[in-house]
Amino acid sequence: MYRVSLSADDDFEGWRDAARALAVSQIPASDIVWSVGSGGSDLFGDQPVPAANPLAGFGVPKPFIDLAQSAILHSDPERFSLLYAVLLRVRSQPSDMQDRADPLLRRVEMLAKAVRRDIHKMRAFVRFREVEDTGKTEKRYVAWFEPEHHIVRRNAGFFVRRFANMHWSILTPELSIHWDGERLQESPGAERGDAPSEDPVEDIWKGYYAAIFNPARLKVGAMLSEMPKKYWRNLPEASMIPNLIAGAQAREANMIAASPKPSAPPPTRAATPGDNAQGAWEALRADAMGCTRCHLHLLGTQTVFGEGPIGARLMIIGEQPGDQEDLAGRPFVGPAGKVFDAALEQAGIDRARVYLTNAVKHFKHELRGKRRIHQTPQTAEIQACRWWLQQETEIIRPRITLALGATAARAMIGKTVTIGKTRGAPIILENGGEGWVTVHPSYLLRIPDAAKAAEERERFVEDLRNVRERLEAA
Ligand code: URA
Repeated sequence: MYRVSLSADDDFEGWRDAARALAVSQIPASDIVWSVGSGGSDLFGDQPVPAANPLAGFGVPKPFIDLAQSAILHSDPERFSLLYAVLLRVRSQPSDMQDRADPLLRRVEMLAKAVRRDIHKMRAFVRFREVEDTGKTEKRYVAWFEPEHHIVRRNAGFFVRRFANMHWSILTPELSIHWDGERLQESPGAERGDAPSEDPVEDIWKGYYAAIFNPARLKVGAMLSEMPKKYWRNLPEASMIPNLIAGAQAREANMIAASPKPSAPPPTRAATPGDNAQGAWEALRADAMGCTRCHLHLLGTQTVFGEGPIGARLMIIGEQPGDQEDLAGRPFVGPAGKVFDAALEQAGIDRARVYLTNAVKHFKHELRGKRRIHQTPQTAEIQACRWWLQQETEIIRPRITLALGATAARAMIGKTVTIGKTRGAPIILENGGEGWVTVHPSYLLRIPDAAKAAEERERFVEDLRNVRERLEAA
């Protein structure tokens, strides 16, 4: 039996070095016990772990490294062993990395997925509170957060970049991190009571949240799945949720009675220490640039991520970037984009106020001579990319989401629907917002008969107009 002791729960380098040495010697996964702590990163056990030959080549597919770097942060104690088993497999058969049906690989992918989600949740939900720092001129901010996995160290860079000029601490049960404007330091885990719970910035934020809370959109189940209750405790606005829920019906009735009234414009707020949405989106976009969740990244020139204001009330989802979008790195800039822009204008929607994205973020195509011919994404590809869309939705929190075409509708709803049947009526989405479905603008370009094309185009504009009116009425 071989025993490997890693220095910390997120000790990827320690795991990698030991795994290499063991894999080169073909040691089966069942002969290794992995643990954390107890003696630093030394390797010890009944048998000495074979020394790795530094000159021996050790190649593994890049997607495996990406997968391992995320999965290793999961709280499942079996992760080291599972990853080692995958390592042995892909070393002998690199193409196994593509086998999406393989149960072992799927299990490790689920671990990695949970970790990535936790990373983004931390970025979106950490809320700093100002504390008195006696004798210091600098303001100091402290946040409390309870991650599910060992992600704090991995996320530190995000907060350093986002709040580079602030002095802050993030306290968590396992590990705390502190930034003084120059250096990042760590200290042991803390308790919730070590972090402050109220500050004046919160009063403003709470007032704003109460003003924009819309009882008509209340879906408690969806709220719980998107923002699990444990995060509520740390968000100033969340302390109001139980009361707001309790009063929701009465407020809804009042709202109806009081309508039509122009809704109060959202207050423009200067960035506050709790305002992570922009940063969370930037980080998400940066992560998506290196996406290898499906094989389409091998085809496209680049990830074409969504664009638009972070607080947009309308999000529109297309299918996937086309040839020109793939080169420009922006959605809807090619021929379909021109049709779309003209229809938006006719419907009175300002594109600059819309968050525009695609269900699939790489250009799927086949080469015919020099031409790159669009191919419709398959369900597995839409599903793989849906993760990004869900994260975008979580950050943007649009009031209305409009799906253009069947691929976008599938990504928005999570199941296949026919446009003819779903068009023209709102759908309540998991996030509590409202979903609408219409045709894709490229469908309009393919209609051979001019009269029919004009008619369909008018229907498309009508759908957009409807959405605008719904937003105005909301
Ligand atoms: N079609 C889409 O669905 N999205 C784009 O970005 C361009 C064309």
